[in-house]
Amino acid sequence: MTEQPQSNKPEEPELQQPDPSEQNRPFAVPVAERVGRLPPYLFARINALMYEKRRAGADVIDLGMGNPSDPPADFIVDKLAEAARDPKNHGYSPNTGIRNLRREVASRYYTRYGVSLDPDSEVLVCLGSKDGFSHLCLALLGPGDTAVVPAPSYPAHVYAVVLAGANAITLEATQPEKFLSNIAYTCQHLFPRPKVVVVNYPHNPTTTVVEADFYRDLVRLARRYGFFVVSDLAYADITFDGYQAPSFLAAPGALSVGVEFTTMSKGYNMAGWRVGYCAGNAEVIRALATVKAYYDYGMFRPVQIASIMALRHGHAAVQQQARCYQRRRDVLVAGLRRLGWEVEPPRATMFLWVKIPEPWASQYSSMDFAMMLLERADVAVSPGAGFGPAGEGHLRLALVENENRLRQAVRQIGRALQSIRLAAEPAPAE
Ligand SMILES: Cc1ncc(COP(=O)(O)O)c(C=O)c1O
Repeated sequence: MTEQPQSNKPEEPELQQPDPSEQNRPFAVPVAERVGRLPPYLFARINALMYEKRRAGADVIDLGMGNPSDPPADFIVDKLAEAARDPKNHGYSPNTGIRNLRREVASRYYTRYGVSLDPDSEVLVCLGSKDGFSHLCLALLGPGDTAVVPAPSYPAHVYAVVLAGANAITLEATQPEKFLSNIAYTCQHLFPRPKVVVVNYPHNPTTTVVEADFYRDLVRLARRYGFFVVSDLAYADITFDGYQAPSFLAAPGALSVGVEFTTMSKGYNMAGWRVGYCAGNAEVIRALATVKAYYDYGMFRPVQIASIMALRHGHAAVQQQARCYQRRRDVLVAGLRRLGWEVEPPRATMFLWVKIPEPWASQYSSMDFAMMLLERADVAVSPGAGFGPAGEGHLRLALVENENRLRQAVRQIGRALQSIRLAAEPAPAE
């Protein structure tokens, strides 16, 4: 028997004939388990119907999303254009923000709230406060950790925690004193204790506000139970009737136990620019910067330069915008009251948080009522259930259309509800 010559050549994988059954089998995309932990987007149904109506030519009055419809002040846009024309401004920029912008944020905290911040270690620029909050959750939380989140909830407050692999416990936030005592109770009874407590006053969606002593008590609780505070002060600039929203960072000892987010989106009408700030505890700012270093390359420099100008010279424009929201608030509150709805005028934010009145509340979920208003009145609003179960029975109306359109919205809602009432009444006896 002759021996076969040994070859060192690796065996070629056998070229398989295409298997038609394999080709036709649906391919299972291996989406990460965390995506499955996110619920379906509750506003999707409303948005789909709104687009369908608009495509069919309907003039829908959109009070759904808190998306400012007014432009930023001209000088801010001019500065953006000027800075964009400078060829030096188009490279990557530092991902914690350029120093002059961080300095401007620190100086604003000082003049507005009396808070001294080191712009190098205690201030960070992020691509909107939502983005900053999500990355902060990655820096603070992981599997096995728990965060307390206000309810009803701005969805990112819950789901950024979930995406970080941690658990979110929602506590009713509409009575701030009760919220504090529930936080204390949760810390006493939950093991391991919550690691993070998120606060958001003025609160989206309920418009609840607090005074400075709330934050003093919160810092005391944070020290007693060892949780870290994340304050979302997105609506700092939109306050009414002389009310000023306090900053968490102004509470004694706050810098050692927490951070705070602020944004250019709301008061400055710069929502699409994606400019937010995180300020406070240096160690956590450093951890957030570390996470961000792996996710983004910083903000377009001209946007940062224009934001410096906005912070420096935009005060009057912000106040004017707040007065505009206040007038819209008054128009909408008065109109809905004329329809017999019980509405409390908010002291801050760009929303009304409204209890669905009877008889509708016992007949419709907030989602069905919102869909009905869109279908029959051509008015889009956010159903309270979109902010979690604690929001059921309510609607959130954003003050993002002008006063005439708000009056028109009230008329259309009134007519739509009246037509349903008439249709439900028994026909008069002959
Ligand atoms: C409570 C709250 N936080 C954060 C944001 C997002 O702000 P930004 O545009 O800075 O990401 C919003 C926007 O609606 C909000 O309501």
